[in-house]
Amino acid sequence: MLESVKMPLITAATEDDIDGIEALMAPNVKKQLVLARSKEDIRSHLGNFLVARDGGRLIGCVALRGFGEGLYEIRSLAVDAAFMGRGIGTRLVEACVEKAVKLDGNLVFTLTLRPNLFSRLGFTEVPIKTFHRDDKFREKIWADCRQCPKFDACNEIALVRELKA
Ligand SMILES: CC(C)(COP(=O)(O)OP(=O)(O)OC[C@H]1O[C@@H](n2cnc3c(N)ncnc32)[C@H](O)[C@@H]1OP(=O)(O)O)[C@@H](O)C(=O)NCCC(=O)NCCS
Repeated sequence: MLESVKMPLITAATEDDIDGIEALMAPNVKKQLVLARSKEDIRSHLGNFLVARDGGRLIGCVALRGFGEGLYEIRSLAVDAAFMGRGIGTRLVEACVEKAVKLDGNLVFTLTLRPNLFSRLGFTEVPIKTFHRDDKFREKIWADCRQCPKFDACNEIALVRELKA
């Protein structure tokens, strides 16, 4: 039976959430749905993470990573399997967009296998080869994509959303 949940509050992650974030991501790392993040990596980028809670239980996480010049990436998105399909992932993405706007961001992007979640929120697809060649994203490409064994056969979908009309 599905567990009942009201739309949870999305808050900034704290030190107490590090184990929970790692646990939420672990099964999805195994399935290659999100990039692996060590506990140390989560800790040192904790300020990027937002979490969703149901009572005391951590049920979702996402990170907003800044690259400078108003460029932000939404990454490390995961929802507890028992709570999927109730809008929590959508709410986490919306919260990231709201945060990026508050930070005076210009453009937010993501690489995902779940494009609909983002396109419903105003993101538009960029062909992956165009994304890989775009100088704007060079830091992302060098930090993550170039290390990825699937770089030349990337099956992820790149989506972007302008934050200023
Ligand atoms: C991807 C993930 C975070 C989505 O979390 P979620 O809480 O289930 O997301 P939501 O409930 O907001 O949306 C899930 C589904 O509900 C339905 N839905 C939600 N809002 C909807 C709306 N307004 N209209 C129509 N359908 C809607 C859709 O079927 C949607 O799936 P889709 O986005 O692929 O079309 C979650 O499935 C997960 O953790 N997956 C494993 C890790 C992963 O793939 N991470 C993404 C890496 S970017």
